[in-house]
Formats: sequence, structure tokens, C-alpha cells
Amino acid sequence: MTTLTAAPLADLLNRLFEEADAAEPETVAAAADLSDEEEARMRRSKTDYVEFYGRLKNLPLPVSRETGALLYMLARSSKARSIVEFGTSFGISTLHLAAALRDNGGGRLITTEFEPSKAARARENLTAGGLIDLVEIREGDALKTLSVHLPETIDLVLLDGAKALYPEILSLVESRLKPGALIVADNADMSPDYLERIRSPGSGYKSVPFADDVELSMRL
Ligand SMILES: C[S@@+](CC[C@H](N)C(=O)[O-])C[C@H]1O[C@@H](n2cnc3c(N)ncnc32)[C@H](O)[C@@H]1O
Repeated sequence: MTTLTAAPLADLLNRLFEEADAAEPETVAAAADLSDEEEARMRRSKTDYVEFYGRLKNLPLPVSRETGALLYMLARSSKARSIVEFGTSFGISTLHLAAALRDNGGGRLITTEFEPSKAARARENLTAGGLIDLVEIREGDALKTLSVHLPETIDLVLLDGAKALYPEILSLVESRLKPGALIVADNADMSPDYLERIRSPGSGYKSVPFADDVELSMRL
């Protein structure tokens, strides 16, 4: 058994994913309120993301079940002890990553979320999952919260907040990435600037698209 597949986490994650599935029509409806151009502008904008995610503040928007499992596997196989996450929401990805830390023998996960109600729900879920002792939830905009007090070295990063900010967040953590550190960027196809940077020769990363919606990169 692993922390991921044992009580209380296995049942908790099943319930959270089922609730996220049930919220899917609401998620689609929230996006449908916006025209395609409006949505594209908000996603691309380095300022309108606050309004965009404000509209979605009651929705979990989690990584897929497969990406959750992938995060756990990558953190386990890389023996990660130090993880940074951009975009906590209700904490579903955070639970996978913290479970890996537990099974690696401990560590520290810094995650950040600017919607206070979401940060509170993530805290509840991490407490219910018995993992809150491994996690620091920084409430506020990641551009600020991740600009200070980062660990000396970082083993794994999950980028899953506002897509337009992926390059900026990478810049904040870059000097702390140890050689071999992994960066998982969810829905990276919505962040062309990020893809151009991380895939460019001489960028200091090896990077591949993985499954449909993930860019998996390694610091060289
Ligand atoms: C796709 S959801 C994250 C889902 C989460 N990783 C999971 O799998 O459960 C993106 C979250 O990032 C938050 N967010 C977006 N931009 C942010 C920023 N600049 N700083 C902090 N949080 C941000 C949003 O409020 C939203 O809850």
C-alpha cells in the first residue's frame, strides 16, 4: 500500500474527483459565458487572470486523474523532497504530491493560491488527507508569494495556475532548480511563450509534450 492508495487519501481523492466531474457542466457554463475571443484574451493576459479565475472560484478545475497519478509517480521516482506548486485550487494535485513526499520519507511542498476560499478548502482537504504537516499554503498572487523564501533547492515544480504567467513563475524558481529537477506544466499548450522558452535549444531544459495536455521538462 502507498499513502495514495490507503485510507484516508484514496477515498478522499475519489470523492474530490467525483465532485469535480459533477461540477464539469458548471465549468463549461462559466466558460460559455465568455466569447471565444474574451476567453482567449483573458487566458493570454498577464493581468486579466485575476478576473478570469475569480469567475471560476467555486470550481475545482483539477488535474486529470492520470496527471495526478503521474505527479505521484514522478515525485516518487525522483525521490523529491522539495516541491513547489503554482495553482492549488482545492488541493487535488497537492494531495498527490504531498502523498509522494510522505512515501519518500518526508519533505516540504510550497503551494500557492490567490482565492482565499480555495486556499481554505485546500487546507481542509490536506488536513482530512493527513498531509497538511508537509504543505505550506501561501495565500496570494504567486508572482509575490513565490518571489521570497524559496527552498535552497527544488526537485519538482507543478505549473497549474494562470497559463500566461508560466514563464514568469519559471523565472522565479529557476535558480533553485537542481540539475534533474522536473517541471510539469499542465495545459501548457495555452502558454505558447512558455513552450517556446522551455523547448528552445540552449534553454537549459530537456522538454517533451506528454499525453494531451502536459509539458514535462527537466532542468539540465
Ligand atoms: C487549474 S486550477 C489548479 C488546480 C490544482 N492544481 C489541482 O489539480 O487541484 C488553477 C488555480 O490557480 C489559481 N491561480 C491562478 N493564477 C494564480 C496566481 N497568479 N497566483 C495564485 N493562484 C493563482 C486559480 O485561482 C485556480 O484555483
